Amino acid sequence: APDLTGRHFLKELDFTAEEFRGLVDLAARLKAAKKAGAEVQALRGRNIALIFEKTSTRTRCAFEVAAADQGASTTYLDPSGSQIGHKESVKDTARVLGRMFDAVEYRGDSQATVEELARYAGVPVYNGLTDDWHPTQMLADVLTVTEHTDKPLERVAFAYLGDARYNMGNSYLVTGALLGMDVRVAAPRAYWPAEDVVAHARKLAEESGARVTLTEDVAEGVAGADFVATDVWVSMGEPKEVWDERIAALRPYAVTMDVLRATGNPRVRFLHCLPAFHDLGTAVGREIHARHGLTELEVTDEVFESAHSVVFDEAENRLHTIKALMVATLAGPDLPGA
Ligand code: CP
Ligand code: NVA
Repeated sequence: APDLTGRHFLKELDFTAEEFRGLVDLAARLKAAKKAGAEVQALRGRNIALIFEKTSTRTRCAFEVAAADQGASTTYLDPSGSQIGHKESVKDTARVLGRMFDAVEYRGDSQATVEELARYAGVPVYNGLTDDWHPTQMLADVLTVTEHTDKPLERVAFAYLGDARYNMGNSYLVTGALLGMDVRVAAPRAYWPAEDVVAHARKLAEESGARVTLTEDVAEGVAGADFVATDVWVSMGEPKEVWDERIAALRPYAVTMDVLRATGNPRVRFLHCLPAFHDLGTAVGREIHARHGLTELEVTDEVFESAHSVVFDEAENRLHTIKALMVATLAGPDLPGA
């Protein structure tokens, strides 16, 4: 198991492929141990602060349940329940929490904020999603990929469709490149990851042997794909007004059964970090329906509910991978299976 004692987890670019894979392997072992009723607690007496400046279902629950499973406790600071950035600087908050907690998770807009927390906390800081990266999601997605293919990651073709100039698109491109995958982004050019993200991915690909493809053409993007992934078209914190332009630009990139057929791979799997917009089950969904007459956006209900979809395995894997992250950075010599 990787000894990442004391390390932060801020973005995928800070890790080697070996370290990243080590975390995923540890997660697989912790998952098996839990299912066998043989989990060993390596985090007894530890305290973890969870700062959420944006809402969450999976990430928050994964940290809380993982900590409880491992004997640690958590304190949840909700979007309105702390002084951070309002009445107290990020730097001061970091130094206070670092005196009380063994690690700090942060979710919010700004990558600069999570990096600043890490600079001053003196304890491991974990990025639970910023506008730029969603690295704990990548651990879960890579675990899910390994569970649903017999191929080594170097032979896996992974296609991401939709809004790719945000956390999920950036993280997939860089993670795929780090791990040597055949990683594709299919989106309108205006929705491709920023130049510096693409440059990082290309540089990683030179070392790992990954293939990095950016295309506006869905058929090219998904041909031969083992996995097809997407994300919401409007992310948390974005204004309602962008819906019109997003729907207009991204509709050709919706994941439909035709898109899955275009992979030519009858065993193709569908991934989505969730929450997803695939039916009228939400208030936002009903609003979009009233305005645009659409009941589905980035993925059809048919795909979401099909046998191709492994989105709930992916969601469950948030728990096991976030647990692995905490164990690898905090357990020290108690690391199970070390
Ligand atoms: N996928 C994900 O991060 O979900 P939450 O926003 O519910 O944490
Ligand atoms: N891109 C989405 C991901 C949610 C997990 C958002 O930032 O809202």
